Amino acid sequence: MTTNADPPEGIQHYDSATDVPFEVSKYWHQRYNIFSKYDDGIWMTDSAWFGVTPEPVATRIAADIARLAPPSKTVLVDAFCGAGGNTIAFALSGRWKQIFAVEKDPKVLACAKHNAEVYGVAKKIFWIQGDVFAELPKRLKQAGKNAVIFGSPPWGGPTYADYEVYDLSVMQPYSLLDIYKPFAAISKDVVLYLPRTSDLRQLAQLAKPGERLKVTHYCMYGASKALCVFFGSLNGG
Ligand SMILES: C[S@@+](CC[C@H](N)C(=O)[O-])C[C@H]1O[C@@H](n2cnc3c(N)ncnc32)[C@H](O)[C@@H]1O
Repeated sequence: MTTNADPPEGIQHYDSATDVPFEVSKYWHQRYNIFSKYDDGIWMTDSAWFGVTPEPVATRIAADIARLAPPSKTVLVDAFCGAGGNTIAFALSGRWKQIFAVEKDPKVLACAKHNAEVYGVAKKIFWIQGDVFAELPKRLKQAGKNAVIFGSPPWGGPTYADYEVYDLSVMQPYSLLDIYKPFAAISKDVVLYLPRTSDLRQLAQLAKPGERLKVTHYCMYGASKALCVFFGSLNGG
C-alpha cells in the first residue's frame, strides 16, 4: 500500500541521501532492513531512527512471543511503541485479540500509526498517546491481566556499546527496575528488549528461586542487535 500524504512538521520521509541529516544517515542507508516497505511512504522523526527495531528482528520476536505465550494471554501491550517497528510485527503475527501501543511523543506516535497503515494493520491496534507508567495502572490495568507486556525502552545513559557489560541500573531515563517493577505489577509476562551487552546478573536478580531465565539474542549479519529477556510463563516455567 502506498500512502502519499505529506508528513506533518517534524516528521519526514527521506527519499534522497542529500536530505538526510548526518546523524541519521547511517540508519537511513539501512532503511530497507528497518522497514522493507520504506518506499511505500514510511514516516520517521529524526530521533525515532535511533531506536527502531529492524523488521527481521521485530518479526522474529513477534513469532517467539506468539509461540511462548500461553493461550490465556490474548492481549499484547507494546509499552514504548516508537515508530511502530515491533507493534507492526505483533499485529502481522495475527496472534493477539487486542494490541495496545503506547508512546508518549505525539509525533512519534503519528509515525507509528501511519507506518502501521503502510503495512495494512493500523486498525488492529489501539493507539495510546501518553506515559506508559501512568497508563498501565489506569486504562490498561484490566486488559493487562491477560497481557504480555513488551517493552523496548530508550537505551540512554552511558553508551552501551562502550561497555563490555552494560549496567542496567544506570540506563536512562528508566533503569531496569524502574521498568520491570511497574510492568510486573500488572502482568508477570513481561518481555524486555535490551542492549546486547546487558548485565545478565542484574536480570537474574529478578528471577524467583529456581526459576529459569530465558534470554535470547536477536542477530543480523552475524552480530547480535539486542537481547530479549522473557519473564513469567514465557520463559518455559
Ligand atoms: C527505543 S524506542 C522504541 C522503538 C520501537 N520499538 C520501534 O521499533 O519503533 C523508545 C520509545 O519510548 C518512548 N517513551 C519514552 N518514555 C516513555 C513513556 N514513559 N511512556 C511511553 N513512551 C515512552 C520514546 O519516545 C521512544 O519513542
